[in-house]
Amino acid sequence: MERTFVMVKPDGVKRGVIGSIINRFEQKGFALMAIKLMQIDLALAEEHYRDLRTKPFFGELVGYLTSGSVCAMIWEGPNAVANARSLIGKTNPVEAAPGTIRGDYAMDVAGNIVHGSDSPESAAREIGLFFTQELPITTFMGFPYNEQSAEATH
Ligand code: GTP
Ligand code: MG
Repeated sequence: MERTFVMVKPDGVKRGVIGSIINRFEQKGFALMAIKLMQIDLALAEEHYRDLRTKPFFGELVGYLTSGSVCAMIWEGPNAVANARSLIGKTNPVEAAPGTIRGDYAMDVAGNIVHGSDSPESAAREIGLFFTQELPITTFMGFPYNEQSAEATH
């Protein structure tokens, strides 16, 4: 089963929408594998977004990411990466459809609430950066994850 890395960014934490975001992932059928609230340092922010280091907004981006606590999560499910990206919506909230997280909670690209890995390879790299300890792989809150338990949450 595929996994993806999702992070509620500092503006999402400050606005108190962690629960709403978790709720959307649970309703979709994802299984939560790990979660933690943390303050990330500049080195981790720069490593996380290293593919964007030549962009003119890189300084603003890592400043934004280190401006407060983030909520780092690992979610599991079929096509987890693509399904998470579709829940999250387009990068720029102006273009993100209503019904997506960014479409419903954000207005500006410099404060777009949430991050989601863009490929299974990125997900593995990011999970390794943010979660160094071994993770439980067979259970979700005591229940084995399967199609039936996902349906039962709807
Ligand atoms: P993430 O899920 O956060 O990785 O966003 P994304 O995959 O939809 O977009 P991308 O990886 O290209 O950009 C990463 C992040 O950089 C975005 O989510 C924004 O927070 C930020 N960003 C992108 N474009 C701009 C910009 O033009 N200005 C600023 N200030 N930030 C930007
Ligand atoms: Mg990205």
